[in-house]
Amino acid sequence: MSEVTTNEYTEDGKLIRKVRSFVRREGRLTKGQEAAMEACWPTMGIDYQESLLDWEQVFGNNNPVVLEIGFGMGASLVEMAKNAPEKNFIGIEVHSPGVGACLSSARDAGITNLRVMCHDAVEVFANMIPEGS
Ligand SMILES: C[S@@+](CC[C@H](N)C(=O)[O-])C[C@H]1O[C@@H](n2cnc3c(N)ncnc32)[C@H](O)[C@@H]1O
Repeated sequence: MSEVTTNEYTEDGKLIRKVRSFVRREGRLTKGQEAAMEACWPTMGIDYQESLLDWEQVFGNNNPVVLEIGFGMGASLVEMAKNAPEKNFIGIEVHSPGVGACLSSARDAGITNLRVMCHDAVEVFANMIPEGS
């Protein structure tokens, strides 16, 4: 997985410091979180890219999409997705152990209407979320 933010530099190579809503507190993933990442990222994970998402392509349907910024360990997100199969859910979180924990819970719950991203939501909104969606 790539960095959770995109670094920008001045012409003479100095890092441009951006205002951020989070502090990196990476820590290690537990074995369970790591296993869930490996097993579930191909179906539930969305890599950061600088192009707009197409919800129908992402979820395979046109159901309404609910997005949670900063889902922590994903407890409420998984619960919401489980209780509303008629909607699609996408969560964005910079803390990778939380993403692993969320994927593990989602797999245990057997839900298919959830996707996750591990990236700064500010950049995701700027480059990937279609206007008015
Ligand atoms: C106070 S916690 C809330 C956790 C969760 N919503 C809950 O109720 O248990 C805030 C979370 O937002 C994440 N966060 C903060 N800024 C973010 C950003 N710009 N993009 C993605 N996640 C962010 C943090 O890593 C943290 O896990």
